Amino acid sequence: APPASDKPLRLLIAAPRGFCAGVDRAIEIVERALDRYGAPVYVRHEIVHNRFVVDSLKAKGAVFVEELDEVPDGVPVVFSAHGVPKSVPANAEERGLDYLDATCPLVSKVHRQAERQVEHNRHILFIGHKGHPEVIGTFGQVPEGRMTLVETVEDVARLDFPEGTGLAYLSQTTLSVDDTTQIIEALTQRFPDIVAPKAEDICYATSNRQAAVKAIAGECQLLLVIGAPNSSNSLRLVEVAERMGCVAKLVQRGSEIDPAWLDGVDTIGLTAGASAPEVLVREVVDRLASMRPLTEEVVRTAQERITFKLPRQLQD
Ligand code: F3S
Repeated sequence: APPASDKPLRLLIAAPRGFCAGVDRAIEIVERALDRYGAPVYVRHEIVHNRFVVDSLKAKGAVFVEELDEVPDGVPVVFSAHGVPKSVPANAEERGLDYLDATCPLVSKVHRQAERQVEHNRHILFIGHKGHPEVIGTFGQVPEGRMTLVETVEDVARLDFPEGTGLAYLSQTTLSVDDTTQIIEALTQRFPDIVAPKAEDICYATSNRQAAVKAIAGECQLLLVIGAPNSSNSLRLVEVAERMGCVAKLVQRGSEIDPAWLDGVDTIGLTAGASAPEVLVREVVDRLASMRPLTEEVVRTAQERITFKLPRQLQD
């Protein structure tokens, strides 16, 4: 028999993968703002967590900053897809800055639910990852002390509220579907009267990408996830594959792939996080093809047709 390395590599490409409707919209907002107002357009935080996307927009005249006080007066500023605390647009208004909000509408939906729960005098348990900008933005929708972060099932056991406290839970949009189900089970067991969100807060793109990985990971010895180390939904894709016993690696570019990773591999999976553009998928496929002859197969588990409207200022 020929050595394994001479066999064509079987490449399974997950679908859906890559850009979601919220990322598409956020990038289009920056591009249209550049067209309309001219460079520079400031962007508060990486518009989406992908260096390739950020660098391409920089080349067109976008300037990325972390805080509003780094934005000079008189230039437009875009808020990233992850959402911002209420204090940020308030601040921008005070300064008379023209701002465009690229917060994903599915994140805004969670923001409005948070406000509503506070109006109903409920304390919110927010399932999410500490320090992620979406979590910071959602906490910033309600007065301090009205929301508690829950990251794990163990956290649930440590919660303690005075008798009669009304509770509700909400979550970050880019979590592990399986972990979140367990945390919600623990919450409802501990607090049977806790109010659930109207619909799941984990977004369609996050759950579709995880389901697509589940469909292929069992057949693969290695799965590559194109995504950034600070991209929550990409990290979750790595976990999903690992839990199915598949070695999984996060890569940002094709050049990061070490040929040694392919030793003993005859089936390899590929997906991309919601902030990773399709050109990077092609780059990775080309790089793999330069190492071993391969056959490509797309494994689709869902169709996505959702799109979001642009902010009013940018509609023509
Ligand atoms: Fe929005 Fe989900 Fe994408 S919340 S930005 S559609 S990953």
